[in-house]
Amino acid sequence: MITKRIEDELNKQVNAEYWSAYFYLSMSAYCAEIGLAGAANWFRVQYQEEIAHALKFFDYIIERGGKVDLKPIAEVPKEWNGIIHIFEDTQKHEQIVTSLIYHLMDVAIEERDHAAKSFLQWYVDEQVEEESNVQAILDQLRMVEGKGNGLFMIDKDLALRVFVDPTIPK
Ligand code: FEO
Repeated sequence: MITKRIEDELNKQVNAEYWSAYFYLSMSAYCAEIGLAGAANWFRVQYQEEIAHALKFFDYIIERGGKVDLKPIAEVPKEWNGIIHIFEDTQKHEQIVTSLIYHLMDVAIEERDHAAKSFLQWYVDEQVEEESNVQAILDQLRMVEGKGNGLFMIDKDLALRVFVDPTIPK
């Protein structure tokens, strides 16, 4: 069983992960609008990753005998000021998600819930990868000032990303 406090926090995170999915889907639409098909693909894959993150929380709540409580998803932004701005926003968002996961871990420690701690460790590690992926793309984009041939090449790379469910062990 999980405590009510852990159950509430996990449900909040299900919502946050769905919000992230919606956020990245909106970014995908924006990139398609500005003619960056590769970036649109990258954000669509990111959207799929967030759904996988949400479902992992969802399954865990059920596995631990908790009650899933799906709240409405708040509206997401739909306009950015170009490709560098959109990846800066992605980086900021992933840093916020990391802090949410750390908060959850703090609660699990306070509640002496060792199973939740073990479960959450997966997200701690996943966030390291999430932040580092975005940093690498942002570095490249800044190198080419987000334009010209450089941007064209980066967009071609971003087009190659395919969804691999991160929650399925390799
Ligand atoms: Fe679910 Fe991008 O962290």
